[in-house]
Amino acid sequence: MKSQRGNFRSKFGVVLATAGSAVGLGNVWRFPFMTGQNGGAVFIIVYIICILLLGIPGMVGEFIIGRHSQSNAARAYATISRYRWWGFVGVLGIITSSIILGFYAVVAGWCLHYLGASAIGHLQGDSTYVTSYFQQHSTNVVKPAFMAVVFIGITHFVIVRGVESGIERASKVLMPLLFILLLVLVGAACSLPGAMQGVEFLLKPDFSKFTSNVFLEALGQAFFSLSLGTACLCTYASYFSRDTNLMRSASQIALVDCLTAVLAGLMIFPAAFSVGIQPDSGPSLIFITLPTVFQQAFAAMPIVGQVISIMFYALLVFAALTSTISLHEIGTAFFHEEFHIKRSYAAWIITVLCSSLAIACSLSVGGAAHLQVMGMSLMNFCDFLTAQIMLPLGAMLTCVLLGWFVKTKIIRNEITNWGTLRGSLYRSFLFNVRYVVPICILLILMHQLGVI
Ligand code: PHE
Repeated sequence: MKSQRGNFRSKFGVVLATAGSAVGLGNVWRFPFMTGQNGGAVFIIVYIICILLLGIPGMVGEFIIGRHSQSNAARAYATISRYRWWGFVGVLGIITSSIILGFYAVVAGWCLHYLGASAIGHLQGDSTYVTSYFQQHSTNVVKPAFMAVVFIGITHFVIVRGVESGIERASKVLMPLLFILLLVLVGAACSLPGAMQGVEFLLKPDFSKFTSNVFLEALGQAFFSLSLGTACLCTYASYFSRDTNLMRSASQIALVDCLTAVLAGLMIFPAAFSVGIQPDSGPSLIFITLPTVFQQAFAAMPIVGQVISIMFYALLVFAALTSTISLHEIGTAFFHEEFHIKRSYAAWIITVLCSSLAIACSLSVGGAAHLQVMGMSLMNFCDFLTAQIMLPLGAMLTCVLLGWFVKTKIIRNEITNWGTLRGSLYRSFLFNVRYVVPICILLILMHQLGVI
């Protein structure tokens, strides 16, 4: 079985494809609205601390498990320690990623719709028009659900074409393009009148806005954005080659991910303040502010505004696609390898399951508002359950497994690439996964559940 597995071709491709999984709607859609709802700069500070202290060690941890075992998540977790029941953490990751794919596809479908709408000029109008346009679209019964299914269908198509030709080649071109376009839009947004208020909101901390909830939200956002805790990184790492430097790759990916998120914030908040949209307006934030930015910043040359708008939504769709591919790949690899069925059949299982969830999530926002769990729409509940409970739990269990149930020799070999790299970070890594990460996550989770 091992010899048939795909491999990423180049080191650059490895980092880009994994960064492609990390960079997605989590950065451009979720990060800005989370920051807006949690007090701006304060949230960003906690978020960055979470990435450095818990995120990077967690990532390296998943990389170790994946590359060591070279198999799907469930088997990887089971084989790295002597206790096979650890495989349940891999299975938990597969369930988590499928739930994420369900609601993520809905937002990705909105982006796909906005791509078409900006091409035919439907997004032109004042901010009241743009606001009601989004409300009408997202609460429509058929269209958004259909778009979500289309998005999962496109993901399915890439997945069955395999790892190297599909995922790697596309990431190499489109990821850098997204970055460049973000920079252009930051420039445009910051030049709008009154934009500096938004920059201040993002960069000048107001500690009176600090509440204990900020911790859990920032932790969830950090893990969601790094694709951590779903066994996604573990699945991708199973395609890494033996000379990939795990520590360096994790740091590079975290840096790219963090930069993209902050750039997205710098694009959205100055614009939001400039047109008088509340920063805490939630998941609709980017769909309401951005069309306004495109029109106002390029008012003198509307055609340029329209072209930039089309390019932006196209790249957003692509960024979402590289993430949905990774979410889909986790389950596909599992069914393909564990049940010995063809890869395309395995992909169909995930496609059908996740499409059904996506339809239910989409309906819960509008058409069938009674689809509620714990007072939240099914869509928001899936987001809450995964980001704030399942991802931290998955990452914590991964670190406990590595810190306490895996031979330290395996960890040392993986971190130093069998003695060919400097091993000075190995001890601090071990300390982190043994004590720092599990204790911090446990405290935050217990606080959230009201135990402390
Ligand atoms: N990290 C992705 C994003 O930021 C989402 C994701 C989460 C992908 C978990 C894979 C696993 O959009």
